[in-house]
Amino acid sequence: MTVSPPPGEAFLSYAEKLFSISLTDIKGVIKDFHAEMEKGLLGHESSLKMLPSYVDRPTGSEKGRFIALDLGGSNFRVLAVELDGKGEIDILAVSKFAIQKKVMQGTGVQLFDFIAGCIDLFLARNNMDRKRAYDLAFTFSFPVEQTDIAAGELIVWTKGFTSTGVEGKDIVTLLNQALRRKRIRDITVTALANDTVGTLMARAYKDPTCDLGVILGTGTNACYREKRSNIRKLKGVHPEGHMIVNMEWGNFDKVRRTSYDTRLDEASVNPGAMYFEKMVSGMYLGEITRHVLVDAIARGLIFSNAPGAVESFGERDSLKTEHMSLIERDGTTDLREVEGFFNTRGISNATLDDRAFLKHVCQLVAARSARLSAAAVSAVIAWMDPEPREVHTVAIDGSLFEKYPGFETRMTDVLKELYGETAEKIRLVHSKDGSGKGAAVMAAVAASAVKEEPMPNS
Ligand code: GLC
Repeated sequence: MTVSPPPGEAFLSYAEKLFSISLTDIKGVIKDFHAEMEKGLLGHESSLKMLPSYVDRPTGSEKGRFIALDLGGSNFRVLAVELDGKGEIDILAVSKFAIQKKVMQGTGVQLFDFIAGCIDLFLARNNMDRKRAYDLAFTFSFPVEQTDIAAGELIVWTKGFTSTGVEGKDIVTLLNQALRRKRIRDITVTALANDTVGTLMARAYKDPTCDLGVILGTGTNACYREKRSNIRKLKGVHPEGHMIVNMEWGNFDKVRRTSYDTRLDEASVNPGAMYFEKMVSGMYLGEITRHVLVDAIARGLIFSNAPGAVESFGERDSLKTEHMSLIERDGTTDLREVEGFFNTRGISNATLDDRAFLKHVCQLVAARSARLSAAAVSAVIAWMDPEPREVHTVAIDGSLFEKYPGFETRMTDVLKELYGETAEKIRLVHSKDGSGKGAAVMAAVAASAVKEEPMPNS
C-alpha cells in the first residue's frame, strides 16, 4: 500500500527553497554589505546610510544621574538612570506608556506633546524636584543625520510611524519646544542616540570588547565602532580615534526577495524602503508567514475543512510574530498548543497536517531572519577584523532575539559555518534594556567630554 503525501508537502519543499539562506548566499550578503558600507562612509548613494553618532565607547568611569527617554516602537519609556563610575548602570525609576496609532500617525506636535506629557507625569509620579536641573538623553530609534551629540534631523520615519512635520527637522528642537509648551524647565537635552548606539554604549560601559550594537526587535539595525579616518564624509572632525556609526542596516537592499516579501512591501506605509528590515524584524515576520498561508489556502492545500481559517488569516497583520513564537515552541506530537491557538481564532476543524504546515512555515521564515541577521553581524565583524583576531562582543537587544525560540542558536550556527572554531571570538550577548540605559551613558559621555576644537578650514 502506498501512503500519499500530505497535500502541502510539495509546496513546503518549494517554500523551503525560497526561504533558505545557504552559506554561499551568506558570503554574497557579506560582500554586498561591504560595498554598501564603503559607499555610505564616503557619502555616496548607498542603501546603508552609515550615520555618525559623534561619540565613541565610554571608559566606564563616567558618573551621574540622568533622565533617559526611549522612543522607537509601540511603547515610549521614561527612565531615571544612575551610573556609578564603576561599570554599573542602575535604573532608579521607569514608566512605560503605550503609543496609540493615532499618535504614531498624527502630527509631529501631537507626538512631541505626548512625549512631554509623559515626562511631566514621570516627574510627578516619582516626586522629582522640579526646581532641580536635569540632563536628559533621548534614544530616538529612527534614522537621524546627526551634526553633534545632541543635534540631528530625522531623515525618514520607519516602523509604521508617519507623524507629519518631523522629517527633515531637528529632533532636539522639537522636544525642547514641546517641553516649553508643558512649562517644563531646567531639562537640558544633552544627548541624542539611536537605540543601537545606546545598546552598544550600555554594554561597553562594563565590557571593552563590545564594538557592535544590534537591535532585533520591532525593527532591526546595528552600529559599530569605526575609525574616524574611514568616515570620509565627515568633514571638520579630527581624524584620529574612533566613532560609533549607526548603519541603518534595515534599509539594506541587496538581498533576494520572494513574492511574499514583495506583497508585504507593497502594502506597507513605506513601500520600496527598508527591505532588509521587512525580511528580518519582528514587526514583519508574522505578516510574511501569513502571506505564505494565504497562498497555500488559495491553492487548496491547507485548511480545506476549516472554513474559519480564511477569515481568520485573511486580514492584514492578523498573524503576529508572537504567535509564531508560540507555534514554534509547541513540542507536543499532536501540536496541541497550535490547536489551542486555532481554537482562540475560531478555527475548529484544522487537521494535524494543517497545524504541522503552519509550524513548518514559521520555521522557514524565522530561520531566514536569523540567518540573515547573522550574515549581517558577520559582515560588520569581517569589516573591522577579517579573521577575526580579537574578541568581539555583540550587544543585542530586542524581543526577537530575546524571546523567539531558537533564534540565537540559528545565528550561532551561521557563525560556526563561516568561521569554524574561531566563531568563539564572536560573542552574542543579550543586552537587556540597553537602549534606555545606554542613553544615560551617552549623556554621561557628553557631560565629561572636552569640547573639540573645530578643524582649521572646515
Ligand atoms: C529601524 C530604525 C532604526 C532603529 C531600528 C531598531 O530600523 O530606522 O533607526 O535602530 O528600527 O529599532
